[in-house]
Amino acid sequence: MTTDELERLLAQQPLGVLHRLARGRVHRHFRAGKRRLIELLLRHSAENRAGFESDLLALISEREARPAIQPVRHQRSERPKTSQPGHRLHSAQHEPDHHEPAASLAAWLEGIGVPLPQPFVPDPWQEDALAKLQSGDVIVSVPTGSGKTYVAVEAARRAMDENRTVIYTSPLKALSNTKYTEFCRIFGADRVGILTGDRRDNGQAPLLIMTTEILRNLLYDAAGGEIDVRLDTLGLVILDESQYLADPERGVVWEETIIFCPTQARLLLLSASIGNPHDIADWLTSIRSTPCHLIKHSKRTVPLRAGYLHPDGKLTPLFRTIGIPYGHPVHLHPEAKRLFARYEDETMPSGRRR
Ligand SMILES: Nc1ncnc2c1ncn2[C@@H]1O[C@H](COP(=O)(O)OP(=O)(O)OP(=O)(O)O)[C@@H](O)[C@H]1O
Ligand SMILES: [Mg+2]
Repeated sequence: MTTDELERLLAQQPLGVLHRLARGRVHRHFRAGKRRLIELLLRHSAENRAGFESDLLALISEREARPAIQPVRHQRSERPKTSQPGHRLHSAQHEPDHHEPAASLAAWLEGIGVPLPQPFVPDPWQEDALAKLQSGDVIVSVPTGSGKTYVAVEAARRAMDENRTVIYTSPLKALSNTKYTEFCRIFGADRVGILTGDRRDNGQAPLLIMTTEILRNLLYDAAGGEIDVRLDTLGLVILDESQYLADPERGVVWEETIIFCPTQARLLLLSASIGNPHDIADWLTSIRSTPCHLIKHSKRTVPLRAGYLHPDGKLTPLFRTIGIPYGHPVHLHPEAKRLFARYEDETMPSGRRR
């Protein structure tokens, strides 16, 4: 969309939507009036246009999916006809009237499974992240299952093509092992090594997988004068699950890794759940020699569905809707209510039953 179109779309939104969009983007946005807020948002949108537009469209569709508040209560017969269950699958936030029939299990399960094979086309935010890595560090803050691994793999491939070493870190040995297997399959076992507390394989490979603690220790040694010659060729450091920065106990490891990361290496931070990515990007820009770009959006590629599995194996949607309902009141699915009651009957002493 052009900037004029974006401005018009912003102007059509109620102030509440603009404030939600401004959260984490515009400092003290709650003090700005609508005109000023649009100006500030437009200015901000230049930083990550794809992510900004996607967040705006997600907020608009979320708002449209919410039922309008009716001033007068309708009679049952006046209620609009319900849509087909299959229709509602695609509007995860749609919260139906309490009198609409609750979603069936078949509708709730519809579409789950292995999708038909399609040619791989990178999403605009994935392209954007890779392009921004050319001119600085990058933080990717997008929902889970969006495709952060693709950005990591492509960035690693490009750095290795330029004969640079790449280090990929994860917070868990198990995740490092999984990524080792995955990256061996992609790049070939001779080009990938692993260094964790339990395992050391192919330490001279151009792509090294390790836990963040191991990298931090390696950088400590380098800072202490024991320079590992391979750090000179380090081109890219990928910190997956980088929300650990906020971990009260282990966060310091991520902080020190970032502080000690050699200046010539690019940093790529990946996470689905950093609460304040703008602050982290500002901090990185202030301590590193290159700017840090933020790639952020909150549109879920894989919508969430909530279900209830009774210990006897009976599965039912948890809510009356297929998606997770927005706001309050939240109506449980009648079948889930029935199963809860049965579970209570079976497990609670009779005196404590409601
Ligand atoms: N552009 C794309 N088009 C279609 N599928 C994609 C695209 N990018 C990635 N995928 C697929 O999406 C799935 C999830 O990707 P990935 O594991 O990278 O998610 P993630 O963002 O790292 O999630 P998490 O936060 O759980 O680690 C994978 O099966 C991947 O192949
Ligand atoms: Mg991932």
